Order: sequence, then structure tokens, then C-alpha cells
Amino acid sequence: MPAVGLGTFQVKEQAGYEAVKAAIKVGYTHIDTASVYRNEAAVGRAIHESNVPRHELFLTTKLAPKDQGAGKAYASLCRSLSELGLDYVDLYLIHWPAASGLKHDDPLNRIRRHESYVELQQGVREGKIKNLGVSNFEIRHLTALLADPAVTHPPSVNQVECHPLYPQIQLREHCRKHGILIQAYSSLGQGKQDLLAHPVVTSTATKRGMTPAQVLLRWALQQGIPVLPKTTNTMRMTENLEALNKELQDEDMHALNGLDESSYRKFAWDPWQVF
Ligand code: A2P
Repeated sequence: MPAVGLGTFQVKEQAGYEAVKAAIKVGYTHIDTASVYRNEAAVGRAIHESNVPRHELFLTTKLAPKDQGAGKAYASLCRSLSELGLDYVDLYLIHWPAASGLKHDDPLNRIRRHESYVELQQGVREGKIKNLGVSNFEIRHLTALLADPAVTHPPSVNQVECHPLYPQIQLREHCRKHGILIQAYSSLGQGKQDLLAHPVVTSTATKRGMTPAQVLLRWALQQGIPVLPKTTNTMRMTENLEALNKELQDEDMHALNGLDESSYRKFAWDPWQVF
């Protein structure tokens, strides 16, 4: 998986098309979309028009909560492939541990997500999914999934919110032990100033001749965590990709890892309550 990918959450149709086209042009080979982002057709069009050979691109999409369950998950995968105009995706994720229409504490959530996962393994066997994984799963969701005898292809990835204000230490350790790669979203705190303008981030940026966004991306990359910064701005796409060529020192990592726990903040969905 290329370590820096382009996130496309909330980048709808035409904007999604333009963003993916521009990103591939400046050197991105990894694009992350989802059925719920409603831009798969636009992303697919931009990929086709780029003329970059398919095997040089890494494309991720995700199963929507409304499509969870037996008889629905595999059909949703096929719909996504058709929207994208592709024969396969490099990574297919169950987007969220709960199914639409169920309360978070409903035990049916677990049943639906296991049914989905087991059904999606057919996509792996058929070559439609190169890597199957999950997103927003907590330790207990992973533990139950791995304990299910019908799970023959353990998840290769868990894509979660992860940055210095929400470092996910326990989840990362759990995933490492089970050979599941953690991939970060919201590395830039969705562009909010709590993270990009945090004094530790800005002072590190000044010290190392980097931008605050690059500091946040390096924090993840130097811990082996691939990132998916989202932007529709071509200059920022390049800035974010160039994080690959920067370097934080041990003391910078130490400072970023030592942020005040009372200021911890999560910017996206919280799956904690999902059964
Ligand atoms: P924009 O699309 O206007 O560039 P995240 O990946 O954490 O969800 O953050 C995405 C947000 O961060 C978007 O609002 C995006 O705004 C902004 N963003 C992306 N790259 C940068 C950057 N290099 N510097 C500052 N803000 C950025």
C-alpha cells in the first residue's frame, strides 16, 4: 500500500473527479473512496482517464452500513466495482461496525457485520477484492471477528481515526499483534485548528522546516501508519505527498506523543458504543 493516499470523504462527484485527476497527475498512486461518499463513478472516471496502468494504482472502497448483512454485502461490492468501472479493488473495508437501522447497542450489529465479512470473502476468492479489511473497529469488534470460525481471511487493515490527539495506542498494539495494519484517517483533524495549530505541532514545523500538515503526517508515517489526507487543493496535495521526504527527530516524536491527555479530541465517528 503506498504510504500516502488521497482521502475523498465529502468530495462529491465533479469535485471528486477533479481531485483524483489532479492527485494522480502530481504523483498519488493511492486513492481512498467509499460507497457512502457517493463519488465512486467520478473517482473511476478520473482513474480511467489518467491512463496510469491499473496495477500501478491502489484503490480502496468501503461497504456502506445500509448494505450490511447476508444477501447484501457481496451485491454492494459488485455495485461499487461497476460504479468504479473496475474488475477489482485493492482494498475493500467494512466501513463501520454497525448496520443502518440498528441501535448501537443492538446485538444484531455483530451478526450483520459477521455475515457481511463472510460474504465478502467470496469477493476475495474471485479476485474482486485483493485485500479485505475493516474500518472503525474497536478491539472487541476485531476479537469477535477473529474468533468466528467462518472467517477464513483475517482482516488485513483497520482504517481508523489516528493522530497525536487520538493516538489509539491500545488498538494499534492489538492490531500489531494480530498482523492487522492500522491505516489513519483524519490525520489533519479534518483541517480544524485544534490539531493543525496545536503549539507542539507548529513549533515542530518551524524547527524542522516543515508545514504543520507534514508534521502530522510524519508522526503517523514514522510509526508505520499509512495516511489518507483529504484535500481538493493541488498545492496541498503536493505538500502532503512531500511528507514522504521529510523526517522528524526522536525528540519531535516524543513531544508529539506527550500531548496533554485532557486535550485529547476525536474528530469523526465514535464506534465505542457499537455492540
Ligand atoms: P482543503 O480540502 O480545503 O484543502 P483530514 O484528512 O484530517 O480529514 O483533513 C482534511 C481537511 O484538511 C480538509 O478540510 C482540507 O481542506 C484540509 N487540509 C488538507 N491538506 C492540508 C494542508 N496541507 N494544510 C492545511 N489544511 C489541509
